[in-house]
Amino acid sequence: MADWLAALDRRAELRAKAGLTRRLRPRAAGDAVVDLAGNDYLGLATHPQVTAAAARALSAYGLGATGSRLVRGSTDAHHALEDTLADWLGAERALVFSSGYLANLGAVRALVRPRTLLVSDAHNHASLIDGCRISGAETVVTPHADVAAVAAALAAAPGRPAVVVTESVFSVDGDLAPLARLHAVAREHGALLLVDDAHALGVTGPAGAGGVAAAGLAGQPDVVVTATLSKALGGAGGVVAGPAEFVRHVIETGRTFIFDTALPPAVAAGVHAAVGLARAGDDLRAELAERAALVVRRLNAAGLAVSAPDGAVVSVTAPGPEAASAWAADCRDRGVAVGCFRPPSTPDNRSRLRLTIGAGISRADFERALETIVECAPVSARSELGLRAPQSRTRVTP
Ligand SMILES: Cc1ncc(COP(=O)(O)O)c(C=O)c1O
Repeated sequence: MADWLAALDRRAELRAKAGLTRRLRPRAAGDAVVDLAGNDYLGLATHPQVTAAAARALSAYGLGATGSRLVRGSTDAHHALEDTLADWLGAERALVFSSGYLANLGAVRALVRPRTLLVSDAHNHASLIDGCRISGAETVVTPHADVAAVAAALAAAPGRPAVVVTESVFSVDGDLAPLARLHAVAREHGALLLVDDAHALGVTGPAGAGGVAAAGLAGQPDVVVTATLSKALGGAGGVVAGPAEFVRHVIETGRTFIFDTALPPAVAAGVHAAVGLARAGDDLRAELAERAALVVRRLNAAGLAVSAPDGAVVSVTAPGPEAASAWAADCRDRGVAVGCFRPPSTPDNRSRLRLTIGAGISRADFERALETIVECAPVSARSELGLRAPQSRTRVTP
């Protein structure tokens, strides 16, 4: 075998020894698995109004956008979606991308000027981390949700442009960032606040408008919001929303917007329909909140350490990467899909199951799934105390 392939094999063996193998698994259409792994929080991915809207645009425009919007033109589906998203988020203007990942790369890059300091939460998603890296700006990684550390980082860089970068509901443990306090500290130091609302959009805030809106920060001139359209909205794509001048800057300079084929018009149309349903979905959000509380109660009662969820993401501590994989596999064998997060996908080297709660799952299936998770739990994951999640250790370097 060629040297480089043999070297890759050795690295795969090392990952296997550390319990970090990742494998693709088949997924059949309409499989009977109870899904606590995906992010279809409101059950909109398969909603008939959503799929019908996408189908109409599919026959009108074809499968793909066939090019970037600057080259190929901007469809009504894109504009309608952007206007609706801006209105929902309370922002002056919104711009959609072909993924949330690319929206984050584009947003961070566009906020950086010469000498900009980025102050990034230790639990931030990989797309924000990569955005900081690709921007080339100096980045200070602050301990998770530590407003004093953010203030200290900003105070140590007087006179420099700065951006505080955070998620709202964090993808790892489902906790909510202290957005109002972060904004106050950012404003005090003349810094901007970039919030990735991926796991909050559709789930929290007035009419589901997300964590930024819930914190009363919608439309603030020093706040930029990003989100993915692939979670509560059940589709694909990402959005950057903020002041009109900033969005124009992204359109004219953002590499992940300019040099990327646009979001397919059919997806834009489907997501547009999903936004309407999400805005009207207070009953679904109430059901999500109730289910989140139920997960915590049931799993805590079984002695499992569970995070305190602020949205629809709950993390359950696993004893280690191998135990986490085996636990998730046992659940899957019994018809329950759960997320399995192991290093390097965790910011603190802790392994956990990640449960994403969907309002679209029947209550009976949901409760059965919780029983399955408890029954499959490794003995070492249980404590007598029914602990809440232990304090995360945080990274302090990028
Ligand atoms: C917090 C967060 N931001 C961004 C993304 C990326 O979004 P997308 O999947 O649309 O690329 C994800 C996950 O997918 C996420 O969890």
